[in-house]
Amino acid sequence: MINLGKKVIYQIYPKSFYDSNGDGIGDLRGIIQKIDYIKKLHVDMIWFNPFFVSPQHDNGYDVADYCKIDPRFGSMQDFEELVAKLKEINVGVMLDMVLNHCSTEHKWFKKALAGDPKYRKFFYLRKAKADGSLPTNWRSKFGGPAWAKFGNTDYYYLHLYDPSQADLDWHNPEVRKAVFAVVNFWRNKGVQGFRFDVINVTGKAKKLLDATDPTTEKSLYTDTPVVHQYLKELNAASFGQDPDSITVGEMSSTSIANSIAYSKPDEHELSMVFSFHHLKVDYRDGNKWTKEPVDFMKLKAIFTAWQEKMDQGGGWNALFWNNHDQSVALNRFGDPGKYRLQSAEMLATAIQLMRGTPYIYMGEELGMIDPAYTSIKDYVDVETLNAYHELRKQGLSAAAAFDIIHAKSRDNARTPMHWDSGKYAGFSQVKPWLMPTNQDEINVAAELKHGEIFNYYQKLIKLRKTEELISDGHIKMFLQKDPQVLAYERFLDNKTEKLLVFANFYGQEHTVTLPKQYQEQAGTVLISNYHKKDFTLTAALKLVPYEALAIKI
Ligand code: GLC
Ligand code: CA
Repeated sequence: MINLGKKVIYQIYPKSFYDSNGDGIGDLRGIIQKIDYIKKLHVDMIWFNPFFVSPQHDNGYDVADYCKIDPRFGSMQDFEELVAKLKEINVGVMLDMVLNHCSTEHKWFKKALAGDPKYRKFFYLRKAKADGSLPTNWRSKFGGPAWAKFGNTDYYYLHLYDPSQADLDWHNPEVRKAVFAVVNFWRNKGVQGFRFDVINVTGKAKKLLDATDPTTEKSLYTDTPVVHQYLKELNAASFGQDPDSITVGEMSSTSIANSIAYSKPDEHELSMVFSFHHLKVDYRDGNKWTKEPVDFMKLKAIFTAWQEKMDQGGGWNALFWNNHDQSVALNRFGDPGKYRLQSAEMLATAIQLMRGTPYIYMGEELGMIDPAYTSIKDYVDVETLNAYHELRKQGLSAAAAFDIIHAKSRDNARTPMHWDSGKYAGFSQVKPWLMPTNQDEINVAAELKHGEIFNYYQKLIKLRKTEELISDGHIKMFLQKDPQVLAYERFLDNKTEKLLVFANFYGQEHTVTLPKQYQEQAGTVLISNYHKKDFTLTAALKLVPYEALAIKI
């Protein structure tokens, strides 16, 4: 069995990594050309966002052919070369399986539209209610109703996301067989990692019912018991046959109990889960499209529950701040101005030394920040544009709506990787599909020459591979009531050594009083973003702005 605690995964958004052929869009050959850069990080696997054939209404999460590479990203040969070249440096490939829905351009949907009874059963097709209203009152996650007219018929099809993403009916065993075959197609190409997109919304009820309250609507189709059955089947039919596979489920609004079951090895479902509660601590009333300061005490409570209970229950967390759906964590939880370096390193320390498998989103290792866009025209993302119009409809001024979009848009994470300070950040020779803005100061060339964040990431990754306390240790939070510092202890069964991790989430210095059992202990500093040397702990520990410290006692 592989030790998930020793693995580190890097995420690449192919559209924005490197454009090798001058069309403004990142591609597979671009990634091949940057393998030397990837090699320096010593990660174990790369999760690639989808590059399958797609009309790109939701940037590739609307898949029209699961087993072909979209020509704008390259060819199957390019993919095979990429897998082989990564293998040479011991880096595995994790593909993004978008199996809850497919594009309305997929042949399954087209056949259904043409009346083929087999494929009509692949989708949720329902008639309007007797009063002519939509089959249910569900809302799409990207705004608007979750139902769209099914061609020229009197049926509607369900789409929890964009109308171009039709939900597949997993109740139908033929659907499950077809999507499991997709996973096996890629396994046959040597792929051992899979990320399953919004996999826990596959568990809809057979009879779709109206939500009686918008706040409980999601529970009608999210994280339901049948998802465990689907995952067990998927596991047995595909990657479960490969003891070296690594899988992660993207779990929308999930619970700890379910996440334990999803990821506990004995359950034979997945290796680990992405949960998102810790990234909703700057939402007002659960609404993403608001601007709120981070509720730090809530963040701490969420980490405490998810870290400790998953540990006690034998589950496994994916550890992350960033991905292609989140605005940059440095802007949300750190200080992207005065303390960019310190807060980038503090955030990395705080998350990566927890119990689980860390995921690093491309550019995070440079301390990349949100782009400085000035107009709604700078944005591409469907969710962002819909939200902007929705906010305007609710009566917000253009400036107020823009202010929220600016802080929360998924495009914040999707800007091209900054390779150098050039006009297009060394990403492309031509105007890219999404513009870079702050590459003058933050870019790979500068970072490798005189930066320190990249180095710090290298060090953190190495620590996970060499320190058993980090890869295998249990976790316990302490200083629970401290309003500024996140602190936890990592420990192993039957061993007295402990690793203490401190992270000051604020720009003010702060002194904490250590619990008795840590006082007067000689400490070895494993990593410090202020270059601290080994020291003996006393009752008081002073932490300067955004200081992070991992000390072994
Ligand atoms: C996931 C993806 C996101 C996509 C959505 C619908 O949340 O990460 O980018 O829009 O699923 O497929
Ligand atoms: Ca290209």
